[in-house]
Amino acid sequence: MAKVRIGMIGAGNIANTHIKNYMNIADAEVVAICDINPERLKMTAKEFGIEKTFNSADEMLANVELDAADVCVWNCNHAECTIKALEAGLHVLCEKPMAYNTEQAIKMKEVADKMGKLLMIGFTMRFSDECRIAKDFIENNYMGDIYYSKANYIRRHGAPGGWFSNKKLSGGGPVIDLGVHVIDLTRYLMGSPKPVSVYAATFDKLKNRPNLKTDVAWKPLDAKDDDIYDVEDLATALIRYDNGAVTHLETSYSINGEPTGKNELFGTKGGMVMNGSDIKLYTEMNGFMVDVDPETDNYKNGNSQYFSEMSHFVDCVKNGTPCIASADDGIIVMKILDAIYESARTGHEVIIN
Ligand SMILES: NC(=O)c1ccc[n+]([C@@H]2O[C@H](COP(=O)([O-])OP(=O)(O)OC[C@H]3O[C@@H](n4cnc5c(N)ncnc54)[C@H](O)[C@@H]3O)[C@@H](O)[C@H]2O)c1
Repeated sequence: MAKVRIGMIGAGNIANTHIKNYMNIADAEVVAICDINPERLKMTAKEFGIEKTFNSADEMLANVELDAADVCVWNCNHAECTIKALEAGLHVLCEKPMAYNTEQAIKMKEVADKMGKLLMIGFTMRFSDECRIAKDFIENNYMGDIYYSKANYIRRHGAPGGWFSNKKLSGGGPVIDLGVHVIDLTRYLMGSPKPVSVYAATFDKLKNRPNLKTDVAWKPLDAKDDDIYDVEDLATALIRYDNGAVTHLETSYSINGEPTGKNELFGTKGGMVMNGSDIKLYTEMNGFMVDVDPETDNYKNGNSQYFSEMSHFVDCVKNGTPCIASADDGIIVMKILDAIYESARTGHEVIIN
């Protein structure tokens, strides 16, 4: 294949980011786009000069020769759109969370296997420079045995509204939207252990903070003030893995506290703090405690984690490179997300099989 011909399913916010990055990848070409919202479709197609536009995935898949689809729709429609694209014989990059629930995620993987196609999940944080450096340190045994991690994604006033806050469309709030990223990141860096149980609590005390005069940082274009808000605004969870390691998750849309994005890993030889784009290794040398502060070189080149993610997808499709954000990982993360909601609902620990 000369260039990987990509069809975008969804023309919203993240689709724009993906397309922008595909345009900088020599082996990729976005040839078609569809969205159920005609205005978004028109706006995005015009912005990037995409000529073939459709009002549904069905129409696009039936009318354009494609190699791959990139699914960037509401969480509730990930499974349906992904399965349609796989059944049309395409490789698929599906945004996080993999699906609305584990059952759907398993079905998606079954179809991918049956069709012999790649199903990659948009675990963007795996593609950051911090993650690449952390993984390198870990694989070269600078951390020893990692037995504890803290996964943190806290927004102070950051409920996006629109479909994100409507449980029927999103499946939940910060757990499934933000927590998903840092659960995956910490598990990936801990060597992908198998989760065995979860104990969690969720809250909806502040909701989307409608009393605040300050606006949220960003909203989907179609968000309105009277959108349904029926998701959690804060969650905390303890995730236990089969190797005895534990992750403590904290994630929020709304909290009276500092917004943070700090992921920490603690091992027998070293500890790692990833704070935004900074990364630091806490270790020992010659009987002294030392801190190692590596440069993150990709940022100097102007590359982003999205560029690395899109490049990896294109490379996997074109050259058969093994995918580092697989459907199997997507399913495991979905099991953790489902268990968090179930534990919060029942007040009990949930065992994961
Ligand atoms: N990896 C990341 O960093 C990241 C960042 C933001 C969003 N996301 C994920 O991307 C997805 C989209 O989020 P967004 O911020 O772009 O939302 P958005 O509201 O800006 O865009 C979603 C678009 O999907 C369209 N859509 C919904 N169902 C559809 C269907 N069946 N067929 C065609 N179009 C359909 C909507 O009309 C809308 O235009 C979500 O799953 C979200 O979790 C990932």
